Amino acid sequence: MTTTKTITLRRPDDWHVHLRDGAVMKAVLPWTAQLYGRAIVMPNLKPPITTVTAAEAYRERILAELPAENKTFTPLMTCYLTDNLEPSEIKLGKEKGVFSAAKLYPAGATTNSEHGVTDIQNIYPVLEMMQEVDLPLLIHGEVVDPAIDIFDREAVFIERVLQPLLRDFPELRIVSEHITTSAAVDFISAQSDRVGATITTHHLMINRNAIFKGGIRPHMYCLPIAKREEHRLALRRAATSGDSHFFLGTDTAPHLTPLKENACGCAGIFNSPNTMECLAQVFEEEGALDHLEGFASVHGARFYGLPLNEDRITLEKIPPDLPSEVLVPELGEAIQVFTPPEPMSWRLK
Ligand code: NCD
Ligand code: ZN
Repeated sequence: MTTTKTITLRRPDDWHVHLRDGAVMKAVLPWTAQLYGRAIVMPNLKPPITTVTAAEAYRERILAELPAENKTFTPLMTCYLTDNLEPSEIKLGKEKGVFSAAKLYPAGATTNSEHGVTDIQNIYPVLEMMQEVDLPLLIHGEVVDPAIDIFDREAVFIERVLQPLLRDFPELRIVSEHITTSAAVDFISAQSDRVGATITTHHLMINRNAIFKGGIRPHMYCLPIAKREEHRLALRRAATSGDSHFFLGTDTAPHLTPLKENACGCAGIFNSPNTMECLAQVFEEEGALDHLEGFASVHGARFYGLPLNEDRITLEKIPPDLPSEVLVPELGEAIQVFTPPEPMSWRLK
């Protein structure tokens, strides 16, 4: 008799999610809410979430769209940092329990970042306040200097921005979001526990060849862009090592298919429908299934000072039946789901 291999873990959290708004939010939200206990919701809407009032209203819209069976899901809201945000807004958002963190997008670095920060010095008073009230800073860590090659933007950001920031704000807690390079892995793992990093599902599974396999593959394009194989391997080692600096942030970033398959396709990979299945596969391949719970369900909660989820999920080693796209009925369009490069072998029970 053969028994199916299973693994049970604490319900995971997703520490970096784009839920969008309106019809798209309605379509993608169930994929996050049915599985994760909590999610850090990115503020890069149009217009961005830059006030406590806007974050409260956005949270209400998310809660109102939660399917009846997913009411235990908690969205954690973030503030989009701009050059002229007032430190008092940060203080208010923290005091009211609305902001869980604030997000630094260098202006021009990624999707909907045009209202972002043009020079880190411009937000030093805001960062002082964040350090004082202990609100974590989440960083899209890429320089926007056009002289820097797109594949080098993360490594250069560490030198030019992150290192000075850590020096100037010795108490500020920082998450380097969706890291993609061995330079970031080495840098983050050498820091104290006030610094962490999220790692996405797709960066554990693809390298930059996937973007150009037999032609241009817009659904493999996201920012930070996937790097060389050696970097993917470094990310896999970091995620599966048990090191608590590293935790899951899927960066699931839905865009309608026509906006991806386009002469100027949007950056972002939509992976919330199959992330846990992908992770089980990666961790099994690395011989580290016993570290999956730490990465997906423990390290992030500890960093944010939140209790661990008490309920459990189970994965079983049976090929899953996953959607290749998710429909947005109100718009008559679909969003393509991340296609892993190999057949999948785990499914959620
Ligand atoms: C994200 C999006 O679409 O909002 N895109 C992406 O490629 N990751 C923005 C971001 O997180 O950089
Ligand atoms: Zn993102």
